Amino acid sequence: MANISRGFHHDDPIAQYCAKLTEKLEPIEKELQTTTIEKRGNGRTFTGSSALAWALAVPSDGEVISMDVQHETLNAIGKQIIDKRPEISKKIKFELRPATETLDNLIEKGEAGKFDFAFIDADKINYPSYYTKSMELLRSGGVIFVDNALWHGKVVTEPDGDDDTRAIAKCNDLISNDPASTNVLINVKDGLHIVFKK
Ligand SMILES: C[S@@+](CC[C@H](N)C(=O)[O-])C[C@H]1O[C@@H](n2cnc3c(N)ncnc32)[C@H](O)[C@@H]1O
Repeated sequence: MANISRGFHHDDPIAQYCAKLTEKLEPIEKELQTTTIEKRGNGRTFTGSSALAWALAVPSDGEVISMDVQHETLNAIGKQIIDKRPEISKKIKFELRPATETLDNLIEKGEAGKFDFAFIDADKINYPSYYTKSMELLRSGGVIFVDNALWHGKVVTEPDGDDDTRAIAKCNDLISNDPASTNVLINVKDGLHIVFKK
């Protein structure tokens, strides 16, 4: 299958130029990334790097809720590094259960409309549900990033090919047709769908 998404690889000079100007990692982020690669040999092991990035971005009284169904690699690698900076780690709550449960619980607790930002990057099958629940939790003016929104180009070449592709395509359609948001789908790497809640 042709990969029709316009993904830039890390050895592409244009990607390197963009990275040089924008990827300003803090020492703790570099440590997490290099330790993950040293211990597990690749970047496909999930050790809390996005939770750490958001925690570094929010103010000292900000809160980040990370949702995952497994903490094996987080506990083995990520936590030890993140916990070296208590002023950062205190901002992150790591929820260990299906994300739909955590999102529903937040809505039930009256947290709707209180969040500034959501990053959707978990199991693809639940993307439509994650979008709908995140929109409920977001304040007006809040932003959602949906990662892997092009799914290696499959949303165009084989939109009905498998459950994950169908779910991502459905989520993209939901976003595009949602009168409560404006959106931009960016054709870089595996696709990033950026949503602004009106
Ligand atoms: C692409 S990784 C996310 C990586 C993460 N953004 C990071 O920077 O470390 C997808 C994650 O979704 C998690 N996941 C799978 N099913 C889930 C579910 N039902 N609820 C929450 N997380 C889930 C996986 O365990 C995996 O860690």
